[in-house]
Amino acid sequence: MTIHESIAADGEDAVQGQNVYVYEAPVRIWHWVNAFSILTLALTGYFIGSPLPSVPGEASANFLMGYIRFMHFAAGQVLAVFLILRLYWAFVGNVHARQIFYVPFWSGRFWKEWLHEVRWYTFLARQPKKYVGHNPLAQLAMLPMFTLPLFFMVITGFALYSEGAGRDSLEYALFGWVFSIWPNSQDIHTFHHLGMWVILVFVMVHIYVAVREDIMCRQSIISSMISGERLFKDRED
Ligand code: HEM
Ligand code: HEM
Repeated sequence: MTIHESIAADGEDAVQGQNVYVYEAPVRIWHWVNAFSILTLALTGYFIGSPLPSVPGEASANFLMGYIRFMHFAAGQVLAVFLILRLYWAFVGNVHARQIFYVPFWSGRFWKEWLHEVRWYTFLARQPKKYVGHNPLAQLAMLPMFTLPLFFMVITGFALYSEGAGRDSLEYALFGWVFSIWPNSQDIHTFHHLGMWVILVFVMVHIYVAVREDIMCRQSIISSMISGERLFKDRED
């Protein structure tokens, strides 16, 4: 199936009442592992940036910040492994597995469909169009607001980690080059922190539109990321 066929907008009647398998198991597993890792990373990252007031007593009995940092690094490493696996799946999976990695920038049809989606999401269009995979607005949002920022977070996160691990560590050999671009570690902290807010804005909008579409657009949305199947409901349902 080509990307244009996956943009099944014109095929609305053809897909009424049909079930289509869209999100393969690796994409679904990645989605939920990724969601829980990011929630852990954002929560623990927030406290790394704005630490809790120090507690009195022996340092060994008050390792709370140590545990918070440990959770951050563990979730970060899980996320990095799944991101690499997800990238691999973009090459071997179905057409929908590639959608978050590119935008069909030169396709006039893409932009026309995108405009319709903007009108639909701003309550200006009366009827939703049907899409087997992500709709054009979702596809356009995911690359700059999620996929690229996520790579940025992993690279800067491992660079910061490599500083603690030391110059003779494997991490520094792999990510020390980041300090050649940005010698100031505080800058990397600041941009790593800013990246969190970019991703959190995406997540807030993403959950809002997922719930909204589930209610409004007569096709399965949230359950599709669990079962993998998209159900196009009949109008009378
Ligand atoms: C940290 C939280 C989350 C992040 C970063 C996130 C990110 C993503 C990404 C990147 C995709 C594209 C999947 C792919 O092609 O690889 C996606 C799809 C999807 N997500 Fe999430 N997600 C999050 C939480 C949630 C939650 C809580 C829900 C449910 C309310 C949800 C519902 C969906 C649905 C339904 C899709 C498929 C959309 C479609 O059918 O086009 N996500 N999400
Ligand atoms: C979406 C993913 C991520 C989010 C939202 C996130 C968030 C944050 C935040 C907000 C901070 C505090 C920055 C500051 O103000 O100084 C931080 C620090 C840090 N993060 Fe992440 N991070 C993510 C991914 C990662 C990854 C993949 C790693 C790699 C292991 C990582 C490693 C680190 C390290 C080493 C620090 C500095 C810890 C310290 O100085 O005590 N992060 N992160």
